Amino acid sequence: MKKFLALVLCLTMVLTMVGCGSKDTATSGGSKSGKVDVGIVLPTKDEPRWIQDQERFESVISSTDYSVEVLFSQGSSANEKTNVETLIAKGIKVLIICAQDAAAAASSVEAAKAAGVTVISYDRLITDTDALDYYVTFDSISVGEAMGKYLVDNATGTGNPLYLYAGAATDNNAFLFFEGAWNILQPKIADGTFVIKNSSEAVAVQDQAKLTRDQLSAIIGQVTTNWDFNEAKSKAEAHLTSATAADKGKTYILAPNDGTARSIADVFAADADVSEYFITGQDSEKASVQYVIDGKQSMTVFKDTRTLAADAMNMAISVIEGKTATTDTTYNNGVEDVAAKQTPVVVVTKDNVKSALIDSGYYAASDFTGLE
Ligand code: BGC
Repeated sequence: MKKFLALVLCLTMVLTMVGCGSKDTATSGGSKSGKVDVGIVLPTKDEPRWIQDQERFESVISSTDYSVEVLFSQGSSANEKTNVETLIAKGIKVLIICAQDAAAAASSVEAAKAAGVTVISYDRLITDTDALDYYVTFDSISVGEAMGKYLVDNATGTGNPLYLYAGAATDNNAFLFFEGAWNILQPKIADGTFVIKNSSEAVAVQDQAKLTRDQLSAIIGQVTTNWDFNEAKSKAEAHLTSATAADKGKTYILAPNDGTARSIADVFAADADVSEYFITGQDSEKASVQYVIDGKQSMTVFKDTRTLAADAMNMAISVIEGKTATTDTTYNNGVEDVAAKQTPVVVVTKDNVKSALIDSGYYAASDFTGLE
């Protein structure tokens, strides 16, 4: 009987801590009187990237006196809207939101703003609204530039086959990543070092150093992965099926993030006509770090989510305490210049995995095999 009561008590405590057991909602940080000070909305639990952010938020939250609740939208703008409404009803003073769909989120943040909530766009910029107070982000153009540079640095001669992939067109970051990569790749496409093999839209503008939003949209529309591993895999398979052996050999692949990079890399690795491939990624997800160690993914861009989560929480706390939040740049979201705090990124290859990710305390060496 005692054991049973202890179990019930334990279960009750666990359920209270995870926001009453709803699987898409998590993490209440020391909530006082049911009120929540800071509401955090993240896009999905199904990608390791956002679990990294959740874990880093949790460690920042544990050292604050403010109550915080994190909700996940599970890839749905409708859930996201409900999440924001739920948090507004709980009296949040600050909303930190990473949007599922940059444009669709505008109405939710406008509702928050109307309720007197300060809105911080997190990692992904919400577009076409004047309801944003701040944007906390990595330097996404430099993420794309780092990817482009990696491919350029590893190419010699001319005529190297280049396969381009992009993120979801509903995510403003997909544009920034592609723009950054194009900044570096385009001169090397123009001089013949690379030949684009899988995008007629990119080929049509390959002599242009700067692309318009519409031109970027056309390319992204053609080579989008939608941030989806399966979509990335089937696109890569279709591209390699329609390519000739001469379009393969030593190949260069711009993959927009780690999840899609692993899918695409597996497809290229399985093709007998691909003798060697170089492929980019970002997020330093554990599975991709292992791929990098094993030589199956060439690089990943490390975006230290400890910094981003801490920056966003510190900004929220400054707002609550009536202090000025620190920003260092602005981002235009189509309607306004949003004051932003931007964090630099680090390129990780086999050569610096240990110093960048293990020695910095981001991951434990025991999470990986074959680490030198
Ligand atoms: C983030 C990336 C992430 C991607 C897919 C982007 O907005 O910046 O880190 O891999 O979304 O979730």
